[in-house]
Amino acid sequence: MSHKNIVIRTLFTAALAAGFSVLLAVAVAAETAMPQDESGAMLSDETYLMRHPFNRPARLTPQERLGRMIFFDKDLSYNGNQSCAACHAPEAGWTGPTSLVNAHGSVYEGSIPGRFGNRKPPSSAYATQSPVLYYEPAEDLFIGGNFWDGRATGEKLGNPAADQAQGPFLNSQEQALAAPVDVVGRICTGMYANMFLKVCGNQACDQANVDYAYDCVGLAVAAYEASPEVNQFSSKFDAVMAGREKFNKKEKAGFKLFTGRGKCSLCHIVEGIGGSPALLTDYTFDNLGVPKNPENPFYGELDVNPQGADWIDLGLGEFLLGRPDYAAYADANYGKQKVPTLRNVDKRPYPGFVKDFGHNGYFKSLKRIVHFYNTRDVLPQCPADMTDGQAELANCWPKPEVALNVNTGELGNLGLTDAEENAIVEFMETLSDGYKAR
Ligand code: HEC
Ligand code: HEC
Repeated sequence: MSHKNIVIRTLFTAALAAGFSVLLAVAVAAETAMPQDESGAMLSDETYLMRHPFNRPARLTPQERLGRMIFFDKDLSYNGNQSCAACHAPEAGWTGPTSLVNAHGSVYEGSIPGRFGNRKPPSSAYATQSPVLYYEPAEDLFIGGNFWDGRATGEKLGNPAADQAQGPFLNSQEQALAAPVDVVGRICTGMYANMFLKVCGNQACDQANVDYAYDCVGLAVAAYEASPEVNQFSSKFDAVMAGREKFNKKEKAGFKLFTGRGKCSLCHIVEGIGGSPALLTDYTFDNLGVPKNPENPFYGELDVNPQGADWIDLGLGEFLLGRPDYAAYADANYGKQKVPTLRNVDKRPYPGFVKDFGHNGYFKSLKRIVHFYNTRDVLPQCPADMTDGQAELANCWPKPEVALNVNTGELGNLGLTDAEENAIVEFMETLSDGYKAR
């Protein structure tokens, strides 16, 4: 059942062995200040902080600054209308910034109108801490990688977030450029070309070096995502853990339940690893039995999804099936999705802003997902697929999207009261970065 301890141990060694050393090797010394014209009106530190005032100023290395320019650059998309931040906005906890989308289908439109992916954008913050995907035989578990299904393994650039960052530019449902040369070309003729040459080398814009240059793009984005501007560890939770602040009564009760009868911390672990603060994930995968989100626009995209409304998201298992070395493990992993970090899970630009939870954004509030953990196996099964709102009214839960491998040992019938559910929600509200003591 509990795989916590072994995961902590193996995560630590994997982190040391893999991702982090590569990032370090590529990191550039932090002295050169960015010339005025290159920092551009778009994202000087001042503009950035004005737009995202909760962010504390962070000193970024040239590589991290380059990564930030790329992350927020709309020109790096087919129609010049979409940057990474279109789906990973700081003010929404580095996830989708459009309340209306979150309230319904949860999947964001790409640069080309009418083109949608099939999952909810997870937080792009704290993803850099995930180790390169590996199999842990002692517990029969996969650990690490990026994306809900772990398919950005980190095997290419030694870092899942860097592998991941090369994806969206070329994904037809996202930024939709045709090839690496288009991405690099736009950077080399754009506003921060000099910065790119400085970080990636004088030859980075030569035609012959496109592959190298594109790797440098991925690594720069990952470096930004790993920087203290993104991975801030500046929540109330962090202040409490550091002994600088105290939880209020309900938060404290929620934390106790989170780590106790709620069993949440079996997967969203609250211990730090190797001196780093807690990440609220163990980077493993699980099938919680989350229902289908009937409003997912992907069901209607028949040209890319011939199965239409019958399509089901098989998660990690489907990725493993396509990998000769891992295909034997596919069956045991159908329906499993990445345990997401809960950092910034409640971060929103204004109080009425809807956030959505789970790989398909099924749940429309933290209260509802906690209620699901608590009562999945207690309430009756709904007669058909339903939205979260409909299921709430009917007081039932729809059948799981994937019936295989559903975790029944650690959730489903927690025996929590309504007040206890609320306390867990209050605890999760302490996980938002940018906390200032009142
Ligand atoms: C159109 C929306 C969209 C755009 C644009 C986009 N993403 Fe994503 N991002 C997603 C979705 C959806 C997922 C999850 C996909 C999946 O799991 O199959 C994701 C996953 C991620 C993850 C994985 C997080 C984790 O914990 O596994 C990271 C990191 C990330 N994106 C960073 C980026 C970067 C960097 C860019 C720009 C180069 C970008 N995204 C552009 C929608 C988007
Ligand atoms: C067995 C491991 C496990 C346990 C125990 C667990 N979680 Fe999760 N959690 C996951 C996985 C896996 C997902 C993603 C599932 C999916 O989307 O299909 C998730 C998703 C979430 C999300 C959505 C986050 C997002 O960004 O979409 C929240 C919130 C959450 N869990 C809170 C909790 C709370 C609160 C508890 C305790 C009551 C808990 N979890 C217990 C594994 C676990």
